[in-house]
Amino acid sequence: MSRRCQIQANALGATEILSADVSAVVLLDRVGLLLAPPGQSTSAEELGRRFVAASAGLSDLMGAAEAGLGLPKQAIEDSVTALNRAADSGDLNSWLDMVWRHDDATYQHCLLVSGLAAAFAHRLGFREADRRLIGEAAVLHDIGKARIPLDILRKPASLSPAEREVMREHPGIGHDMLVTQGGFAPVVLAAVLSHHEYLDGSGYPHRLSGSGIPDAVRIITICDVYAALIERRSYKPPIPPGEAYAALVAMGGKLDRDLVRVFGEVVLDAAIMQLGQYGRPVLERSAGHAA
Ligand SMILES: [Fe+2]
Ligand SMILES: [Fe+2]
Repeated sequence: MSRRCQIQANALGATEILSADVSAVVLLDRVGLLLAPPGQSTSAEELGRRFVAASAGLSDLMGAAEAGLGLPKQAIEDSVTALNRAADSGDLNSWLDMVWRHDDATYQHCLLVSGLAAAFAHRLGFREADRRLIGEAAVLHDIGKARIPLDILRKPASLSPAEREVMREHPGIGHDMLVTQGGFAPVVLAAVLSHHEYLDGSGYPHRLSGSGIPDAVRIITICDVYAALIERRSYKPPIPPGEAYAALVAMGGKLDRDLVRVFGEVVLDAAIMQLGQYGRPVLERSAGHAA
């Protein structure tokens, strides 16, 4: 960013100059703008650009978590911005299509939960500040998995009881990471720690119930369970949206029924809603260990 470099860049016809240590999110966003300027790009191209930006932010985030470094706040903010602007477009299906192109299951899950949560908060009519908190909670909800051994995290089969116990440590690990770093909102901390709790007290790690589970956490839990059901994994086939939603409804008092109803408007086509298929309990098993 020296004066000399900037003058040289301008002489070469630069339209924008970025510092060499700019984050991947900002760099990709600027490159995307060059390729598809706003106003001249289709909504699909703009959504694709936001997807790339959110993915890049997650990459910075997970890389830092795995390396035991502090989580880059800017990457989190950039991801949340990309997610919320993508949710404004209301095109959840295109977002899901892009998620399936990701071959890494951890990214896939995170982008899926985050995309669902952003769309859910948009549908609930939350103000921008609350949408940002929900987005941040979704992006970070499984950050503790960065410290779970890869042979358990990526095991292409069901986990043994001992392995499941290790996996169940991820909410506490993630919560500790955020508390140690500091500066995270209470609702984000709660979502990271408690996204596997159920309203009837059957969840983990603290068997919280009812009013002990804030609304923001309930929202993340619904997105998380639904995401785990529709994901494609080597040890389980993906479940179609209608059946996955029916499974949520069949969980009854474990999830917030009012929120589950609104979530149906987010994930199901109007036609399916009208047929009433979502009320039919077709699945009894709970979500896989990936959640
Ligand atoms: Fe989780
Ligand atoms: Fe999850």
